[in-house]
Formats: sequence, C-alpha cells, structure tokens
Amino acid sequence: DWSPSSFIETTVAQLREQLKDDKVILALSGGVDSSVAAVLLNKAIGKNLTCIFVDHGMLRKNEFENVMRDYEHLGLNVIGVNAHDKFFGELAGVTEPERKRKIIGKGFIDVFDEEARKIKDVKWLAQGTIYPDCIESLSITGTVIKSHHNVGGLPEKMNLKLCEPLRLLFKDEVRRVGRELGMMEHLITRHPFPGPGLAVRILGDITPEKVSILQNADDIFIRGLREWGLYDKVWQAGVVLLPVQSVGVMGDERTYERAVALRAVTSTDAMTADWAKLPYDFLAKISNEIINKVKGVNRVVYDISSKPPATIEWE
Ligand code: XMP
Repeated sequence: DWSPSSFIETTVAQLREQLKDDKVILALSGGVDSSVAAVLLNKAIGKNLTCIFVDHGMLRKNEFENVMRDYEHLGLNVIGVNAHDKFFGELAGVTEPERKRKIIGKGFIDVFDEEARKIKDVKWLAQGTIYPDCIESLSITGTVIKSHHNVGGLPEKMNLKLCEPLRLLFKDEVRRVGRELGMMEHLITRHPFPGPGLAVRILGDITPEKVSILQNADDIFIRGLREWGLYDKVWQAGVVLLPVQSVGVMGDERTYERAVALRAVTSTDAMTADWAKLPYDFLAKISNEIINKVKGVNRVVYDISSKPPATIEWE
C-alpha cells in the first residue's frame, strides 16, 4: 500500500529509467507541487534538471526573493527571471479575468521558452501537475470554468515530452512526499496560490500601484494568520482588491478610498470549500492593521461565501 517512502523509491527509479541522461526543464512557482516535483527530479537526475522561476510581478510581497533562497538551499539548479515590465505592460488596461489569465499564460510561455532555449538539447518538460488539476480542468459539463493550465501548449511549442511525476497524487500526499524528502516545513505547508497570482485578486485593471497595495494588505493578513496559529488551519487565504471606493473618516477628514475583501477557506482539494470561521478578535485586529497601515484602503470586508456556488478566487 501507499507510503511516501515507497512512492519516492519507485518514482525515482522510474524517472531514472525514463529520463536516462536527458535534460529536463521545470517551471517552479513557489508552490508545494512544483517544488516537490523539482526535489524529486533533482534526487533522480541531479544537474540534468534545470528549474526556471518566472517573477511576473504579481507574487506576494518578498515572495520571489524568499523562495529563490529556499530553492538554492535545497540544492536546486534554478534560474530566476524578473519579467515585471513585460507583464505590467501587456496587462495594462485589461479587466476581463480570462483575458488576464491568457495574457499571463502566454507571457509565461514566452519567458520560459526564451530561457529554455539557452539550455542545449532539452528533451523533457516536467510539471508538478497533481490529480485534482486533471479533474478540475475537465468539468462535468465540458465547460472550462477557469483556465488553470498556465503552461498549456508549451510542450507542443517546444517539441518536448511531458513528465508529470505527481499526477496521481492528492495534495496531502504531495505534502507527505515533500516531508519525506526533507523539505522545509514552511514550503510544504504553504497555501496554494494561483499561477496568475495577484492579477486575479485585483478586480478591474492592474497597475503596479494596485499590486503594491494588495501585497501590503495580503502580507498583514498572512503574517497575522501565522502569528495567531491559524495559518495551518485554513486551506488557503488571501486578500482581494475591490473596484469599489467608499467614504470613510480619518481624523477630521473625509476619505474616499478602496475596499479590500479578506478570503480564507477550508477545503481538502479546492473542488469544494467552506469559508473559514476565523475568530472575530482576529478579524478585528487584521482589519485595523490594514486600514491603519495600508495607504489607500479604508474598508475591509470578510467573504462568507462557500464553493460552490462561489469559487475560491473572485476572478
Ligand atoms: P477557484 O477559484 O476555481 O480555485 O475555486 C480553485 C483553486 O485553484 C486556484 N486557481 C488557480 N490556479 N491558475 C492556477 O494555477 C489559475 O488560473 C487559477 N485560478 C484559480 C485557486 O487559488 C484555488 O486554489
């Protein structure tokens, strides 16, 4: 029966058999799935694996630097690419969620492709796809609710074979495998984060200023969850910047500023999710801190919708 250690042993043997001396590339996202896939492949084929981590500018505050440090610590051969200007440029004025996803997906492929071409004779593209990803992208009616595949089309374009060592695992199994591989606990227990990042948490058009406001609010919420021992009790959490301004008072002044929504859910696979019953004291503290410290925000609301019929992300 299934255990992380037997999974690792079998998979490493299979990967060596399948990949031999071939060169493999993998897109790291900072998330647990791609990180576990990378460490597993690194164990199997070492330096024949090159990882590429694209910073599209819509990551969490300090995420790129922190995660790059973790990856280097894990001994991964990783190339970090700052592509902020490209993505902010292409996204300027775009408000429609699926168009944001398409632009980011395509931009990501361009950057990845450009980096990958610098490596000679790459034969394989490895991905941290897990079982629920395969199901969610083929909903029962055949309608795509949200296009999740950020690297869809990449293998064909680059003429690469696809290697997906985690495709039969659920999230909790991926985490157990990561732990068995000796990965840092904060990497393993990291919440899922969408590929298009904060771009789908800014309703309306995206500007560097809005990203910065959202990063600061999100950082307060996520650090608060950790400090209160709540981070590991929720599946996923984040802040959404709303395209709404409302009236407030600050001292004697009337303000007319933005509203943000806090989102935190419990789930086991993201297919269904319930809003997290966070303590009122905690919500009060986070709300105060965001309004006091994040310039441009004067109102905080808490999202109490479950999936279905709502989704986890607002876009
Ligand atoms: P929804 O909002 O559909 O999200 O309930 C389910 C899970 O998927 C994540 N998500 C994405 N992940 N690219 C991704 O890689 C995307 O475009 C995307 N959209 C949603 C979401 O954060 C949640 O974990």
